[in-house]
Amino acid sequence: MRQPGDTLFNPSIHIDGGGIERWKDPAYRQVYRHIFDGRWKDYDPFEADYRAEATMTEAGTTNGCSFFRAFQGWLSMSHSGPGKGTLRVLPLLKEATAFWMLRPFASDVPEGAFPGCYPSKTFHITQRWHKLLADHLVSLPEIGPGDTVWWHPDIVHTVENHHGGDEPNAVFYTGFGPDCRINRNYLRHMRHSFLLGTSPPDFPEKNNFEVDYKDRAAFDDLSDVGLKMAGFPLPTILTPDSFQHHLGTSNKDHSFQCKWP
Ligand SMILES: [Fe+2]
Repeated sequence: MRQPGDTLFNPSIHIDGGGIERWKDPAYRQVYRHIFDGRWKDYDPFEADYRAEATMTEAGTTNGCSFFRAFQGWLSMSHSGPGKGTLRVLPLLKEATAFWMLRPFASDVPEGAFPGCYPSKTFHITQRWHKLLADHLVSLPEIGPGDTVWWHPDIVHTVENHHGGDEPNAVFYTGFGPDCRINRNYLRHMRHSFLLGTSPPDFPEKNNFEVDYKDRAAFDDLSDVGLKMAGFPLPTILTPDSFQHHLGTSNKDHSFQCKWP
């Protein structure tokens, strides 16, 4: 939640999903192969094959990204808009990605330098090296409670420096990703955090705000969809019908008597 007048929540212009790993990790590098081959127009930002296998963050990185976020998203619970401390994005995706991925190889960059990469941090878009991008972010239009905003994991973004509105900004951050190996691995750790009320992986551990909250969300609050999305096994309720279903037959002539001890 961001209070009116706030100037402290002021993240740098950045791209989530790791930094140097995009050049260093073999699977992650494959995502951008068309750009490296000089065919940036053939690059498909929505191809998921290699992203679902990429190591986006080195082990132990706080604020890292061990979950393949096909999209990052917000569910807004308040009114916001330009000038009210909202999200700012660079809408160009393919063009901007080609620019910042090839930037280390430009003649004005010292050999071996990767502008914007800092150990254990997200990828920074800087005035020094990426001025063309940094000067052209736009604020989201007016949004209200219940609106959602989704952006690609390689979108350049930040938030407005100053919240000039008159009501708090409140959003739920929601990363969305497919069922794949690295996300199943993330969910295994996330389920543990959820049950304990601690911060999930990739979020600062010192944020364990909810550990002592009374009535915080718990296992029993999850619907079947929630259980499935978190990777919990669904409870199996044995009835004559479900038993027939598990047998793979719909032949109701086989009468089945459910006997309870
Ligand atoms: Fe971000």
